[in-house]
Amino acid sequence: MTMNRQVRLASRPVGIPQAENFAMAEAPIPAIGDNQFLVRNRFLSVDPAMRGWLADTGNYKIAAEGSAAGNIDTGTVMRSLAAGEVLESRNPEIKTGDLLTGWFGWQEYAVARPADLVQKITAIDLPMSLSLGILGLNGVTAYIALTRLGGLAPGKTVLVSTASGSVGSAAGQIAKLHGCRTVGIVGGPIKAALCMDEFAYDAAVDYKAGNLDAKLREVLPTGVDTYFDNTAGEISDTARMNMAIGGRIIVCGTAAVSSWNPTPLGPRIERIALTRRLTISGFIVFDHVKDWNPAVERLTQWVRDGKLRYREEFLTGIDAAPDSIAGLYRGDNLGKRLIQLY
Ligand SMILES: NC(=O)c1ccc[n+]([C@@H]2O[C@H](COP(=O)([O-])OP(=O)(O)OC[C@H]3O[C@@H](n4cnc5c(N)ncnc54)[C@H](OP(=O)(O)O)[C@@H]3O)[C@@H](O)[C@H]2O)c1
Repeated sequence: MTMNRQVRLASRPVGIPQAENFAMAEAPIPAIGDNQFLVRNRFLSVDPAMRGWLADTGNYKIAAEGSAAGNIDTGTVMRSLAAGEVLESRNPEIKTGDLLTGWFGWQEYAVARPADLVQKITAIDLPMSLSLGILGLNGVTAYIALTRLGGLAPGKTVLVSTASGSVGSAAGQIAKLHGCRTVGIVGGPIKAALCMDEFAYDAAVDYKAGNLDAKLREVLPTGVDTYFDNTAGEISDTARMNMAIGGRIIVCGTAAVSSWNPTPLGPRIERIALTRRLTISGFIVFDHVKDWNPAVERLTQWVRDGKLRYREEFLTGIDAAPDSIAGLYRGDNLGKRLIQLY
């Protein structure tokens, strides 16, 4: 058996994880034990949430066994979702040749336990990489958050931040499929064009071009019924001023805040929340693992029917991994960021 190349956490980052916080390593692949299976990773996922798994401040705790929770230690393989093929199995539910996604880490091979499994890939007519994006974490997040908390209905206005990204582009399209008017907030004209040309938004606003407040007012004449918040920070301070009465805010991500230590200060929103009768909900997809497979089925059907579009961006080889999270926070990515190993 060959050696296993891995990316390990070398030092705990302060703020956004940089390439120098990781180290490449090589280790022999251990023999699999009872109930375990050996996966050869083909695609490694790169997700903004990885920052939280590395931070020195506490992260969210998750009830579901096997899901990401808490922080990882220095010297260990970087936690990540990955998609790969089973080479060997001592688990009756998992067969050699099965295609899986799971918590297999930033490495070429993973000796996995049942708790590491996220999903078996059944839509083999579609690219396997989709199981980490539109048909995996990102699409499932957008779908469950919006259908449970979004109050979607024809004519409602839904505002999405990181609108052209993996979660955001899915959220905008899912809201549109429910008859909503959709407005996206993005960084830069290329991403604004992507929103309009590929993801069917009714309007897109570039926060980097300035005057976000005036521009949002212009495209949101009746206010926002649902704000799908992926950024927090100043973008959301501005977005929240445009909430309609009875509006809902889904707090899904905090991409615009580079560090929560110390906690950044911003405007107080209690008065807006009170007078406009807002509902603000935090959402963590890993609280909804039971809903994961039905969500994937729904999303798969939309993709097959051509109703749900996606964009992927592939980095090549495991050596691309250490800088890949920093790139997300520079806004370098156009679509779901993945590392392709073979
Ligand atoms: N709660 C959950 O269960 C859950 C699950 C998955 C993902 N999420 C969250 O969903 C959000 C999007 O994730 P994704 O995987 O789809 O990534 P993505 O949107 O494909 O990529 C991240 C994007 O974040 C934006 N960004 C980075 N730094 C920023 C900054 N300083 N200010 C404003 N925007 C910034 C960039 O877009 P622009 O260039 O447009 O600024 C960048 O392309 C993240 O906040 C992530 O944590 C939450």
